[in-house]
This record gives sequence, structure tokens and C-alpha cells, in this order.
Amino acid sequence: MKRVEVAEIKPGMILAENIISPRGQLLAEAGTSITAQQLLHVSYYGIRTLSIQDKDEAVEKYQLEAPDEFIGETQSWRIINSKEFATFKKAYLKCADQLEEILDEFVKRQGALKDEKLLEDIHTVFEEHSTGLGIMAMMLNIQEIDTSTYKHSVNVAIIARVCGGWLGITDKTELDVLTMCGLYHDIGKSLVPQKILTKKGPLTAEEYGRMAEHPILGYNLLSDSEIDRRIKLAALQHHERNDGSGYPYGLTKDFISPFAKIVAITDVYDAMTADRCYRAGICPFEVIAQFERQDKSKYDQNILQVFLKNIAESYIGTGVLLSDNSRGIITMINDKALSSPLVKLDDGTFIDLRERTEMFIRACI
Ligand SMILES: [Fe+2]
Ligand SMILES: [Fe+2]
Repeated sequence: MKRVEVAEIKPGMILAENIISPRGQLLAEAGTSITAQQLLHVSYYGIRTLSIQDKDEAVEKYQLEAPDEFIGETQSWRIINSKEFATFKKAYLKCADQLEEILDEFVKRQGALKDEKLLEDIHTVFEEHSTGLGIMAMMLNIQEIDTSTYKHSVNVAIIARVCGGWLGITDKTELDVLTMCGLYHDIGKSLVPQKILTKKGPLTAEEYGRMAEHPILGYNLLSDSEIDRRIKLAALQHHERNDGSGYPYGLTKDFISPFAKIVAITDVYDAMTADRCYRAGICPFEVIAQFERQDKSKYDQNILQVFLKNIAESYIGTGVLLSDNSRGIITMINDKALSSPLVKLDDGTFIDLRERTEMFIRACI
């Protein structure tokens, strides 16, 4: 038996002990192989390590292609297997490749930021996928473990643009500036040693210090470019927090650029969804719940509430599987508790998840 960090655990590993939720519920039994969905619940409850049986072959025996208990039923599964998603993913990967080339040219060869083509491609993505499955639902399913900085930056750019629209920004040039804020926010990471960027496990104090330099490095890289000043500020300030708890300068809300505040939120959102990327699919309510548990004074609540509310509302009418295995449809979003909607069950009764704190949404189906 060994204790393993949840992030390192793969579906199929055999549990050495029962997993019990903080509320005393049995989530999984000792001696069984853990499923992707169970891993999702474990992270939902903030459990950090699990006891795993010391059998290396236990993982190999698990057919990674074998369906999980819900695969084929989840909304994620349907999205991932749809034609629209296939086109979206192709366009998305092209954007990430282009960004890599642009940054390479700019940082290593000190060329100009040639992003006209990339912005044009992002416009096309928005035009082609503005109806249909919805860009946010597809973004939620595009995540891969070990996402590169380029993909992360494209994610943040696309999500920031969606968020900008929700905040009422209609001017295309403004939206382009916001998109560029997302594309270049982590440009400073190109000057941080690769082995620190990709290190698994906690960073040493020195490594953390190097990592924490990336906003200043990014700002310096961009400082001479003839680009909107807000793009430079987003690179510099996206890790600042309204309450002064951020870095590099510990600025408070009045000193942080509005676009940097949007990027701060979409950056954290992307990191949260990447952490929770498991094959059986992800449901946004868990990510919303995670934001709700955070200190409210960290983020601009006017932006955050609009962002989370729009995500939650886009799931009205979606089928859900609840923690007690009952099924229903999301009927109404509670403005005061966005992660706990009103669900109409298959038998016609309603469950208000705000009042039933022992229950949660297991999957969108
Ligand atoms: Fe960053
Ligand atoms: Fe980032």
C-alpha cells in the first residue's frame, strides 16, 4: 500500500482503503479500481491523497479504452464525439500552433508580433461556432492533461473574448484587444526555464521565485511593441488580486487594469478545468463551486458573477445525474448559489440543490 497524490492517480488503480467524503459518505470501496468519475468526486471534495494497492500491474490490467460507468451517456461524451467538435478542435489546434510560431519569432528572433492571421482564425471560430454546441461547452472538453502554455493561452484568449461579450463589450476592436490580452498574458513564461514550467510536484522557493517573475518578464518583452497598453498590463497584472494578495506588486483593485482582471479570472478558470480533466467528462458546476469557495475579495465580483452566471445559465435544460444516482434536468439557476441549481427530477419532483447541501451534480448527461 502507498499513499499517492490524487493528481498522480489514474483510473484503474486499485484502492487500498475506502474513500469517505468529508460528510461520511462512502465514495468508493477498498479493493475496487477507481474510475474517472470517482476521481472527479475525490477532487470535488478536496481530498489530496489516496491509499493505492502496491500492484503496478493493476493499472495495466485496466483497459483504458473500456467504457466507464457513464461513458456514452454524458454530455461530454456526446460533445467529444460530435462533428462540430472535430472541426472546432482542428481550428483550435491550428490557433495554438500559430501562437507558438508567433511567440517564437517574437521572443527568439525579436521579430514583430504578427498576429493578424491568428486573430482572423479566432474570428472564424467564433462565427462558425456561435450557435450550436456553444464555445464554452466545447472549451470545457478540449482540455488535455499537461496542456502547453500555447494551448493555455489560446484557451484564456477565447474564454476572455466570450466573457467580454457577456460583459457587454460589442466593439470588435475592443474584443480583439481583450483576446490579445489572453494570447500574450503568459509570454513571460518563455523566459522561465522549461524544467521549472513542466515540473511535477511542488516548486522549491527558488523555483517559485523564478516562476513568479513571468509577469514582469512578459511586460518587459512587450514594452517596446506598438500594441495597446492594456495587453502589456494584462501580462504584468494577471496574477494581481483585488485584495492585494497577488504578485508581482500586490496591487489592489483600483490599480489593476480592467482587462487584466478579466484575464485573471479566465486564467484561473482554465487552470481549474485543466486540473479536472478526466476522460468521463467534466461538468462546469464543480468549477463554479470551486470559485464560490474562494475568497470573494480576490476577484472583481462584477466580472466573476456575470461570467459564472452565464456559464451556469447555458446549462438550463441540460440533463444531470445527481450524487444519489437520480436523474433530472436543470430548471433554474439560483443567483445566490450558482453551483446549486433547481433540478426537476424524472419523477416530476423538484430538488433545490441549495437546500440539499449533501447532494451534488455528478455529471451532465
Ligand atoms: Fe501567468
Ligand atoms: Fe496563465
